[in-house]
Amino acid sequence: MTRPFLFSVWNRIMCDDGSKKGIFEAKVNSNRCIGEGFYRVNLGFCGDGARLFAGFIPGQFVEIDLSGAPLPAMDKIPEKLRDASGRSIILRRPFSLADVEVCGDVVNIEILYCCVGPASLRMMELKEGNVVSVIGPLGNGFDIDKNKKVALLAVGGMGAGPLQHLARELAKIPGMEVVAFAGAQSVDRLPFEKPFGDFSARPTLCLNEFSKSATKSIVATDDGSAGFKGFVTGAMESWLDSCKAEMKDIIIYCCGPEMMLATMAEIAEKRGIDCQVSMERRMACGIGLCQSCAVECRKKGTDETFYKMCCKDGPVFDSREVVYTL
Ligand SMILES: Cc1cc2nc3c(=O)[nH]c(=O)nc-3n(C[C@H](O)[C@H](O)[C@H](O)COP(=O)(O)OP(=O)(O)OC[C@H]3O[C@@H](n4cnc5c(N)ncnc54)[C@H](O)[C@@H]3O)c2cc1C
Ligand code: FES
Repeated sequence: MTRPFLFSVWNRIMCDDGSKKGIFEAKVNSNRCIGEGFYRVNLGFCGDGARLFAGFIPGQFVEIDLSGAPLPAMDKIPEKLRDASGRSIILRRPFSLADVEVCGDVVNIEILYCCVGPASLRMMELKEGNVVSVIGPLGNGFDIDKNKKVALLAVGGMGAGPLQHLARELAKIPGMEVVAFAGAQSVDRLPFEKPFGDFSARPTLCLNEFSKSATKSIVATDDGSAGFKGFVTGAMESWLDSCKAEMKDIIIYCCGPEMMLATMAEIAEKRGIDCQVSMERRMACGIGLCQSCAVECRKKGTDETFYKMCCKDGPVFDSREVVYTL
């Protein structure tokens, strides 16, 4: 199938959906490295794109066509990615948003990403003024429950992006206490801009990206090089042990590796806390047609399972409905 044909098919599908999503050209405003292997790219939309992206819900995602971007010079590509780097890119790649900013008629979105393969390596090479094709907004984002009093964000690795965006929205709810728990293997693998503040067992404004929305954070590292020594799930459990709020008033929002989501779901279930998880699957169409992103789900109150599409029905799910792949 040629690209123009794909483009027209996609465009027709988008329009059939009451124009809640579409294919747009976005201009690269900036693309900067914030740590080893971690980048933030800022893209600007105008016209219809700006109108739709202004209403972007945290947890929704976009699909970006990176096939036209050049590869970085070989010496800039980490050795372990060199073999895979030359693979051609047929499919767009899904990314969540870390921020959305409305500036008059223009809407700027920011994506936090890490380089793991041919498309994300090409993303590294985007320069100010380049134009990329973006499909979005896609999927269903986090359901913000304004009746809760405490929102806990469980961040694993690149899950930091959508949860930063969510923290900004939660901060607008009067009286809502928001605490982010951010985990990584070691302090160098935390996908946040340095310098970091004071890491302590109590929530502090230690991570700039969260403190912008006055969200306090607790950092957990597997090797103990910063903050709580252990997994982010352990850090949250120990915080919950001393928490005075009633469990029914708490909600947990998670984004990260599936193992972390499964453990968070168990912790939430055991304590009777509502919990939403943002799932990841390899994606192709991004709009529920190709069935490549199936997530096994449980029918409420039974052992029977069925499949939902991560791109269309998710990527955010109630933690109780998912059958995790471990
Ligand atoms: C809804 C959604 C939101 C995402 N948001 C972000 C984001 O904000 N920032 C970010 O850096 N990445 C995000 N990702 C992951 C991102 O799409 C992949 O890292 C990207 O597609 C990699 O493309 P690549 O060509 O560089 O590497 P590839 O060669 O395609 O992949 C490199 C390695 O990563 C694995 N991988 C790639 N995509 C996935 C996936 N979806 N699930 C499990 N394993 C995968 C592959 O199996 C392979 O081992 C998101 C994925 C989804 C589904
Ligand atoms: S990516 Fe095609 S159905 Fe989800």
